[in-house]
Amino acid sequence: MRFPSLLLTCSLAALVAADGDDEFKNYNITNRPFPKGFRFGVATAAYQIEGAWNVDGKGPEVWDDFFHEKPSRSSDGTNGDVATDSYHLYKDDIRCMTEVGVDYSRFSIAWSRILPDGTADKINQKGVDYYINVFKELKAKGIRSFVTMYHWDIPSALQKQGGWLNPKVVDWFEAYAELCYKLFGEYVDSWVTINEPKQICHAGYGAGVFAPGVVSPGVGEYVCARHVLLAHAKAWRLWDEKYRPVFKTQNTIVVDSDWYEPKTYSKEDAEAAEIKRQFVYGMYMNPIIKGDWPEIMTKYVGELSRQQGFNQSRLPPFSEEEKKLIKGTYDYIALNHYTTYMVKARGTKSRSPPVSWEEDAQVDVYQKSTWKTAAIDWFKIVPWGFGKLLRWIKHTYGDVEIVISENGVSDTDRSGTLRDQHRIDYIKSYMSHMLDAIHDGGVNVVSYTLWSIIDNFEWTQGFNGKLGIYFVNQSDPSLPRIAKDSSKYYANVIKTKCLLDSCVEN
Ligand code: BGC
Repeated sequence: MRFPSLLLTCSLAALVAADGDDEFKNYNITNRPFPKGFRFGVATAAYQIEGAWNVDGKGPEVWDDFFHEKPSRSSDGTNGDVATDSYHLYKDDIRCMTEVGVDYSRFSIAWSRILPDGTADKINQKGVDYYINVFKELKAKGIRSFVTMYHWDIPSALQKQGGWLNPKVVDWFEAYAELCYKLFGEYVDSWVTINEPKQICHAGYGAGVFAPGVVSPGVGEYVCARHVLLAHAKAWRLWDEKYRPVFKTQNTIVVDSDWYEPKTYSKEDAEAAEIKRQFVYGMYMNPIIKGDWPEIMTKYVGELSRQQGFNQSRLPPFSEEEKKLIKGTYDYIALNHYTTYMVKARGTKSRSPPVSWEEDAQVDVYQKSTWKTAAIDWFKIVPWGFGKLLRWIKHTYGDVEIVISENGVSDTDRSGTLRDQHRIDYIKSYMSHMLDAIHDGGVNVVSYTLWSIIDNFEWTQGFNGKLGIYFVNQSDPSLPRIAKDSSKYYANVIKTKCLLDSCVEN
């Protein structure tokens, strides 16, 4: 399970503190251009932008309930009831995209806007019309649609029956996905079934810090993960057999990962970092690419479960049939990436640690206080981690096409700014490491999606977490979108295919 990289052949001096900070100390932004045909996009998600939470027949979903029940769950007491009102102002968003010159828009469909009670028995035509209008407007402006069917917003009616913990969710999701294929297939250029299973399951059903707020560490989060993978697989297979031949488009799942860097290049830390990567990224990508949970997870969770007195592993196994169903359900890897963590091996391992996914990995994870940060604390800016993650994905899963489906940074100031030089620096340096991974590492990255086109409702950060390249003035009732400096920088990159003033082929 060890990551057999060059890292292990380093000198003794490097054992002390030789991580990416040292390796890339004198790093220069690359002046090599983007490969021909490389595409650029921007991303959003329904709950974060649409608003109109109960308008035109939309049913409630878990985030509506989460914030209505307890407004203090968001850092500024706000919620997504109005968000950026893109339900009414979507043309303004698309105008911003046109100004920037993006090739595509990644956005999500709110399940309960088209199926108010979650089931395909009752379709809300006004909700359907809204998305068709968005597709048409994008098409009219020459922007492709990259559509996510599920960005964390299960309808309340289904949550009342257990949500992602109920095995029936696999069929509920498949039926919803089929309806999406039928209703919107002709407009969609590329599909995503589900966004970031880790956040759905760990934050939503483990730690309980995201909707629906179920606290079931080390148990519920694994049940959720199993159901998410099966739901994705069934929806993907259905599309592959029945709808791919008709629409000739692609479909995949978005899995997010930070980079996990060993504290030192000692064998123990290198192994610890690899274990953490398997618990984070491998947990979802291993079943999809190789057909099962990562071996190390099966081993660790199985052993700990026994020691903790469970009569079976807390990590529910897949049957042989399920393994076959899940394996291979992707057309390309869609990766969301934002930041990096350091990983340190534990000297002595507890025989019975607290029951949780984090503890199951039995390693220590932290971020360096010297790393620059944005308004959201965990948002440490560590560009070299992006390049390392991309190379590791190629090393671990083979030469698969990769789409960066999200990358971006929050403002440093919670009240927002139009002069967002730090975001320009972030985009430039993250993309530079990505380009190095493409040119030097042979990693097949074909497109990059910036999160986000506009400042929007950043979940539990509320409007304190502003990640847009357009500022949305929340104190003006007309919610105007105003260009930040970064929108001009990104527009120039798209136009010139170069991160600097000029690029040279080499
Ligand atoms: C999510 C987005 C979120 C972004 C920034 C991603 O994990 O998909 O919904 O806004 O991170 O935190």
